[in-house]
Amino acid sequence: MSKVTVVGAGKYGSTTAMRLAEADIVDEVVMTDIVEGLPQGLALDINQSRPLLGYRTVITGSNDYAATAGSDVVVITAGLPRKPGMSRMDLLEVNAKIVKDVTVQIAEHSPDAVIINVTNPLDHMTTLAAEVSGFDTRRVMGQAGMLDSARFAHFIAEVTGADIMDVEALTLGSHGETMVPVPSQTKVGGKLLADLVDADAVESLVDRTRKGGAEVVALLKTGSAYYAPSAAAAKMVEAVIGDTGEVMPVCAWMSGEYGISDVYLGVPASLGKEGVKEIVELPLTDTEATALSEAAASVKEKVDELHELDLG
Ligand code: APR
Repeated sequence: MSKVTVVGAGKYGSTTAMRLAEADIVDEVVMTDIVEGLPQGLALDINQSRPLLGYRTVITGSNDYAATAGSDVVVITAGLPRKPGMSRMDLLEVNAKIVKDVTVQIAEHSPDAVIINVTNPLDHMTTLAAEVSGFDTRRVMGQAGMLDSARFAHFIAEVTGADIMDVEALTLGSHGETMVPVPSQTKVGGKLLADLVDADAVESLVDRTRKGGAEVVALLKTGSAYYAPSAAAAKMVEAVIGDTGEVMPVCAWMSGEYGISDVYLGVPASLGKEGVKEIVELPLTDTEATALSEAAASVKEKVDELHELDLG
């Protein structure tokens, strides 16, 4: 029996659970939250769409981690989202306490799971989940690159008028100010982006992608994005559950790839039932490679700050 748990039944968590159920790739999706009745009510509502949409996956809502026991994959979405004007880093302390508590429970109830963290600040909360769980780092990863690449692709399609299906876009690095959109690996209909639009247009697409999350937060005013984020997280879960080996940009533990070690960073990796199978090293331009190293240094600096916090 295959089972996925989504911790946090807020906007991101409930949408991810719904997308996974509709994909009909596991027997059960468990949603859990600290708010009593919330995961149960949402589960009931989503389950009632099964005869309409035609899928068999059952969603269980619970406030008790016993219901999550033996999950193959656990997605962590518990935590506060940003408000307008906030950076993801402003959430460091409050979300660290939540992610620590949640991870202790996951490790106890699902010791063989693959953990996919989406709580922000992404790279740091993924590091924390790996440290607290004590899991092999290949079994702990974060979702950011799939989302940032999708945002980049959307903006490119909008500016060039291309069919979204013809756009291949890639972002690496951190999920924040040191995000590294990678124009040298970004193509429209097989042609390099730089051959289709001028350098200023590339730069403005890159800039809008870096600020893609904040643009949504500023419009919503209450909470952050969840439709594209949940689609990204669900894709990663599908690759793990299906053991597909699909290569995706994810936040993974670096052990010398791209000359970078001992840090969680956004890189392309093939995913399977053991989590990250392999990090793929693409040929980057010098500017892109430097930006990736700078992103690694910036994440490490903030992880040092995280380690100084008293998380109880
Ligand atoms: N255990 C379980 N659930 C928790 C806990 C906890 N310790 N603490 C908070 N939660 C739950 C809240 O009760 C809420 O239902 O997490 C949920 C968060 O939902 P939203 O406020 O709707 O936030 P969401 O948009 O889902 O974002 C969640 O994803 O993109 C990131 O920055 C975002 O870190 C945030 C996370």
